[in-house]
Amino acid sequence: MMAGHGLMWSNIYQPEKPKVKQRVDWKRIGALFAPYWRQQATVLVCIVVVSALGLVPGFVTARIIDVAIPRRDMIELAIDVGIILASALLSGAVGVLQGYLNSVVGEGIMRDIRTSLVTHLHRMPLHFFTGTKTGEIMNRVSNDVDNVDNVVTGTLTTIVTNVVLIVTTVVAMFLWNWRLALLSVVIVPLMVFPLGPVGRRMYQIRKQTREKRDEIESITQETLSVSGITLIKSFAREAYEHARFYRAGTRLMQLEIDLAMVGRWFLASVTAMVVVGPALVWLGGGWLAISSGLKVGVIVAFVSFIQGRLYGPAAALAGIQVQIVSALAVFERIFAYLGMKPEEYDPPGAIALPDVAGEITFENVVFSYEGTRDVLNGVSFDVRPGEVAAFVGPSGAGKTTIAQLVPRFYDPQSGRVLVDGHDVRTVTLDSLRGDIGIVTQETYLFHDTVANNLRYAKPDATDAELEAAARAANISDFIAAFPEGYDTIVGERGYKLSGGERQRLAIARVLLKDPRILILDEATSSLDYENEAAIQRALEVLMRGRTSLVIAHRLSTVVAADVIFVLDEGRIVESGRHAALLERGGLYSRLYRTQFKEPVSVATARIGYRD
Ligand SMILES: Nc1ncnc2c1ncn2[C@@H]1O[C@H](COP(=O)(O)OP(=O)(O)O)[C@@H](O)[C@H]1O
Ligand SMILES: [Mg+2]
Repeated sequence: MMAGHGLMWSNIYQPEKPKVKQRVDWKRIGALFAPYWRQQATVLVCIVVVSALGLVPGFVTARIIDVAIPRRDMIELAIDVGIILASALLSGAVGVLQGYLNSVVGEGIMRDIRTSLVTHLHRMPLHFFTGTKTGEIMNRVSNDVDNVDNVVTGTLTTIVTNVVLIVTTVVAMFLWNWRLALLSVVIVPLMVFPLGPVGRRMYQIRKQTREKRDEIESITQETLSVSGITLIKSFAREAYEHARFYRAGTRLMQLEIDLAMVGRWFLASVTAMVVVGPALVWLGGGWLAISSGLKVGVIVAFVSFIQGRLYGPAAALAGIQVQIVSALAVFERIFAYLGMKPEEYDPPGAIALPDVAGEITFENVVFSYEGTRDVLNGVSFDVRPGEVAAFVGPSGAGKTTIAQLVPRFYDPQSGRVLVDGHDVRTVTLDSLRGDIGIVTQETYLFHDTVANNLRYAKPDATDAELEAAARAANISDFIAAFPEGYDTIVGERGYKLSGGERQRLAIARVLLKDPRILILDEATSSLDYENEAAIQRALEVLMRGRTSLVIAHRLSTVVAADVIFVLDEGRIVESGRHAALLERGGLYSRLYRTQFKEPVSVATARIGYRD
């Protein structure tokens, strides 16, 4: 069965999956709000002022009905109406200030969360990214953070506002007329009662919704990337992708509908209560008015209070509680990401690697990726400063893995990786990686100008330095041929360039970085022979005076190496120079016959033909 499997990028290795804890980390949430306490204190004052001002019209209305009109007092009437208008205006003005402060807090917290999330992700080890769908990561950084915004700017203010409204109103009502007040609040518990179950159900649905969104985001990301779309088109799988997307979309749709409906039933019952309350007040108040002369204005004021300042806020709070529960889930998801263990940038007691000479030593290194068999089985070698070491071996032998252990992209399970005699686990990552240049088959360029891509290695590089690096990498004429030269925008992965051009840009970029240690992992293997000749010259310039680990599949590089390590199934099975290894008649000589021989002869033949 193919269905359900999707594109072939499904993750095989499951790295540390961020676990969503059930307990809410209030301290952490509090820490997010802490920098904005001044604004929030002001907001609180605004809320209290606005809600106190909101009581004014009720009292004044009662005065109009019970005092001004019966006494035919025009001045009292004018003053009362003036007070109502003034309080409304004032409260509007305070509301504007409150809205502004709210945005400051909300947007500020969003920026903080987003930044710390992305910064944290940048510091996560490579295996996290090889094992997690990009879409899932993107969803956290964008959607989840956006959801936090709703909580911060909307929910929190709503809670405080409504609580203050309810408290001030209830206190005022009891002070004014406790019997009517009792009648007003008696049904409130009925409105709040169904909250628990509704909240729990909503929390569950929201959680599923978010997971579904992760999935949809992943599909979108994968299928709309240049590599993904190329794959779809070349296998003509558009119909399949349509079906897959439709299925995921339908499930999301159902979840969203469920979510809306849970809320509806609840709102409907609350709305029903809103009608019952005033009826009770009219009934009780009317009876008091008839039997013991309660003033009509008081009843009118109470009805307006309970409608505007009691049931409304209670209903809002009821809805909010549900939102909060699900918002907390978002916080949990974000905190789960923030809680993942990042790379060790500054190991305890670490030193910054002093002037790197470039010696690289592996001491009995055993390594496996999470949950796989051992990929390196006790690898030991030593490459002296300035030497060129070639690694050859069948595909899957562990060559790339060795290359990735030097800049400490991974840590070995046992054994040591040393640079200049320092265990890479005892130096700061910045100083280690600052002196290692890497060129692989897969070159990444930002969607930016040629110049900015080059300057990624050295932000303060002068134009002359860019030009020099480009010339050394054999790419300067090509760049000069663009109408916009170094200001030409290259595509995200450099799709507007050919493989060879991209590769030469990458080499120029490493030249600018000028590292002492160079790692070339099949840097030319995806290229055709003509391109390769050009790249080869660029690489020779690059390797000059640096310790180079070269994973090569072309003979010319291997033959020139100071030492060749032959790798098989995670072990170094032979080492030495070309001639000696060839003579041995072991794996190297077999590889020589099958892997290396042909390209050289073809390349030579080609060059011969063209000349
Ligand atoms: N990120 C990874 N997670 C798990 N296993 C991996 C990963 N990368 C490579 N491997 C496995 O490790 C072994 C060695 O891979 P690699 O070092 O890339 O070999 P080579 O570069 O010699 O072709 C292979 O069996 C490969 O499947
Ligand atoms: Mg490899």
